[in-house]
Amino acid sequence: MAEPVIHVAATPDELAHEAARRMVEAYQQAIGIKGRFSVALAGGSTPKLLYQTLTGSAWKEQFDWTKVHVYFSDERCVPPEHADSNYRMAADAMLKHLPIPPDNVYRFRGELPPQEAATEYNALLKEQFGDNGCDLVLLGMGEDGHTASLFPSTEALNETKADCVANFVPKLDAWRLTMTYPFINRAWMVMILATGTSKAERIRQVLEDSPDPVEIPIAAVKPELGKLIWLLDAGAAGMDAADF
Ligand code: 6PG
Repeated sequence: MAEPVIHVAATPDELAHEAARRMVEAYQQAIGIKGRFSVALAGGSTPKLLYQTLTGSAWKEQFDWTKVHVYFSDERCVPPEHADSNYRMAADAMLKHLPIPPDNVYRFRGELPPQEAATEYNALLKEQFGDNGCDLVLLGMGEDGHTASLFPSTEALNETKADCVANFVPKLDAWRLTMTYPFINRAWMVMILATGTSKAERIRQVLEDSPDPVEIPIAAVKPELGKLIWLLDAGAAGMDAADF
């Protein structure tokens, strides 16, 4: 794997625009090669500003959205209209405001029993990607170093074949649906977005100490052939915004 690229922006807004710029880069590369672009969206709160930014005039016109295919790197086991749904967050912030054909959006069906939802989505990923991966996978990072729904000391970390699984997370006392390392690491580009000082030490450990992924799961996100890009604001990078 190539060395990760680390980009530090002074503010979350600048980070969102840098992420959008790099997303255009991945889109143009994919369209040039195969005429379609696949992106797996991250959940949580950090990427919401990126999704909103993409609907603005600066970026919206740089995509032919009919050629964009949208997946999710993870999902909560809730219906799509639930307040905790990653799909709902992305739909409200972005998907409802862009001319993406509904058939181009592939959500985990969190309303199904977890194993059934995972089996269904895994079949979809296998059918659409075979032995390849997404052009772009967007990820966030929790303060414990989880990413997608790959949480410390959970079963999903051990998955070596399936592209996604249902994963019981004891600390949440809840099931989650998540893409797995094998699928994430087949992406052409993985972009990790993280903001806030609360994540700085964990990020430093990942970038400098090669920690055990069982304890800090994001440490095992290592695209086999693709690029890994960390997009951080000053706080997450352990820097002072005044340094910019
Ligand atoms: C989720 C996400 C999760 C998220 C991190 C960071 O479903 O919650 O996939 O991995 O990216 O928890 O969340 P924040 O962006 O809210 O800090």
